[in-house]
Amino acid sequence: MPAIAVDSLYKVFGKGAKNAVAQLKRGVPRADLAAKNVTAAVIDHNWSIEPGETFVVMGLSGSGKSTLIRMLNGLIKPTAGTIRIGDVELGSLSSRELRRLRREKISMVFQHFALLPHRTVVENVAFGLEIKGVDKTERLERAREAVELAGLAGHEYKLPAQLSGGMKQRVGLARALAADTEILLMDEAFSALDPLIRQEMQDQLLDLQSKLGKTIVFITHDLNEAMRIGDRIAICDGEVKQLGTAEEILMHPADDYVAEFTADVDRSRVLTAEAVMEPCGTQDTSALRRIEPDVPVNELYQPVLDSKAPLLVVDDNADPLGVVTPRSIIKSLAFEPETAADGEEERQPA
Ligand SMILES: Nc1ncnc2c1ncn2[C@@H]1O[C@H](COP(=O)(O)OP(=O)(O)OP(=O)(O)O)[C@@H](O)[C@H]1O
Ligand SMILES: [Mg+2]
Repeated sequence: MPAIAVDSLYKVFGKGAKNAVAQLKRGVPRADLAAKNVTAAVIDHNWSIEPGETFVVMGLSGSGKSTLIRMLNGLIKPTAGTIRIGDVELGSLSSRELRRLRREKISMVFQHFALLPHRTVVENVAFGLEIKGVDKTERLERAREAVELAGLAGHEYKLPAQLSGGMKQRVGLARALAADTEILLMDEAFSALDPLIRQEMQDQLLDLQSKLGKTIVFITHDLNEAMRIGDRIAICDGEVKQLGTAEEILMHPADDYVAEFTADVDRSRVLTAEAVMEPCGTQDTSALRRIEPDVPVNELYQPVLDSKAPLLVVDDNADPLGVVTPRSIIKSLAFEPETAADGEEERQPA
């Protein structure tokens, strides 16, 4: 069963919201609604996330990301459509049941959040559990574990004023981890951090994910960040423009909106041997150096130069999948993505 599933999900702000959904379904552009002060923030989302998946929602400012996440944890109600958390449909819950589900199943990490200035790191992390009525010994123990997981070991007894921005953000992460919920919702959690600290936090999250296997919905407006941490990425502008893995989006952007984002991405880090390889053809591959399909391209430059011959990409059974040559690498990095929309135009009769 999916951890989270949304079906024909809409959120419209403004007068006549329900009517606006009917109009959107008939194909009225959202700009026409905007002219009447009606904002279509989330339009016809249909997707589901498996347990343990890191799902990234990415889009420009105003693309409906925060609205989506606030619907997922039941803070605001959809205008139309359904949200399922496990086997529970949020719309079927009373506000009391909803609060309970939120408390037990879902944690949030925001870009900015308030720390209690006179409490230590551990006490700040334990605070969320205090509100939930967890007794003192247990909450301090869970808080210490979470502090360690969030990479704050050694800083347990510092006060917020003694922490850097990155460390404060780790406290937010620790607070969410201490709640020990299956689902983590992260809204631009790293966006306010300096690039280096931000990368450290991304690494920390990846490391945590490999240990804990939470279901994470991570919101960002940075495609490099999205590609670094997301198992799958939904690129949104009200509606979902494309949903797929980093490679799928990079190699086959659905339209110009998506392609524009991908222009800024460091392809060599995202693309793997499998994505850039060429067919083996009829050449004799027996003497070629073998590599696995998931090696990133930026680790292939040196081997391909050193070996002065193509590298052979092989699967688990050592069967050849393709070859990587200097040319295939250069082609993929310099690659002008052809969008699906371009293809469609070509197929149409003149
Ligand atoms: N409570 C509200 N009432 C009216 N309009 C709203 C409300 N909340 C959000 N909106 C509008 O919905 C649209 C989407 O907002 P949202 O905050 O979801 O975007 P976002 O993708 O999170 O943007 P950002 O990257 O700036 O955080 C915006 O046009 C916003 O002004
Ligand atoms: Mg937002």
